[in-house]
Amino acid sequence: MAITWSNQYATSVPEIDEHHKTIITQLNTLHDQMKQGKGKQEIISTLEFLTTYTKMHFAAEEKLMQDYRCPVAELNKQQHVEFIQKVVAFGKRFEVEGASPTLTLAIQHELTDWILNHILKIDQQLKNCVQ
Ligand SMILES: [Fe+2]
Repeated sequence: MAITWSNQYATSVPEIDEHHKTIITQLNTLHDQMKQGKGKQEIISTLEFLTTYTKMHFAAEEKLMQDYRCPVAELNKQQHVEFIQKVVAFGKRFEVEGASPTLTLAIQHELTDWILNHILKIDQQLKNCVQ
């Protein structure tokens, strides 16, 4: 089931919203590739892109929160570290298990749900800081 970005996830910073859209799209792609039993290399490329892109996005967002002195800046950083750890752990599991049904489902539960929840609780606080 593909998750789509909607206005409820808007942060008031268009650049950040674009990043979030890309991350959600990549997570959907990863899920579909695993479900459809695509080749290992194809899935690894998506995981690598997702990791690199997410790190770039997190750095941009952290800078923004720091520049605008958002009260949640530190918490945001901590949660970003957690997410990257999740993605790395996911990649390791993929090396061992391949596209198992449990791992395919985990994208939804551990990565997509996590990021959406993070956007709603933390990233949206940008609305109060960026003016
Ligand atoms: Fe964030």
